[in-house]
Amino acid sequence: MKFPNLLIQWYLQNKRDLPWRNTVKPYFIWLSEIMLQQTRVAQGLPYFLRFTEAFPTVFDLAKASEEDVLKLWQGLGYYSRARNLHKTAQKVAFELNGEFPKTYTELLKLKGIGEYTAAAIASFSYNESVPVVDGNVYRVLSRYFDVETDIASSGAKKEFTQLAAELLPKGQANLFNQAIMEFGALQCTPKNPDCRNCIFNDSCAALQKKKVALLPVKSKK
Ligand code: ADE
Repeated sequence: MKFPNLLIQWYLQNKRDLPWRNTVKPYFIWLSEIMLQQTRVAQGLPYFLRFTEAFPTVFDLAKASEEDVLKLWQGLGYYSRARNLHKTAQKVAFELNGEFPKTYTELLKLKGIGEYTAAAIASFSYNESVPVVDGNVYRVLSRYFDVETDIASSGAKKEFTQLAAELLPKGQANLFNQAIMEFGALQCTPKNPDCRNCIFNDSCAALQKKKVALLPVKSKK
């Protein structure tokens, strides 16, 4: 079997049960992705649960005071994320009738939604065929395909986005994107990955060339 299908099969058997994976509501997906930037799942999860309890819809978040939003965010850091979240909730609730834009390109226009978050919402909520590219994706692809491009270089994002886009199976962007991120988080870890017990131990280029620990290449800036 080919890389994308194997990866999806691995995901279906090994994924963590996380609340934002049991929904396609863009509001919940958006919230989780903003919270998980620079934050580990274990740390972000209780915040996500408290947030969605306090603000079950984008209208509830929009109507809240900034003070209440920041209070619930306390401890997560990067408070501009919370302020942008609140502003964007108000835009969606009061200017867009509570409906999130339905395409990657339209999502990108919202404050605080960059390429990664737009791709996550578009693929997880609407199954649009756009690749997500985060640190997990750089790691998994650079190792599996032995890509030596410096991920801190200016062209890296474009190159890895292109590669990920070519791998996206038709109609399964949602699954593939979740799968590659989960694989990077649980199996193809930054340090000491357990390559002996990896489904790709017969096809991973980095493993064959003994370069796992050297990839991805990241220069200090
Ligand atoms: N980190 C960022 N996005 C994530 C997601 N959707 N699931 C698990 N971890 C993540």
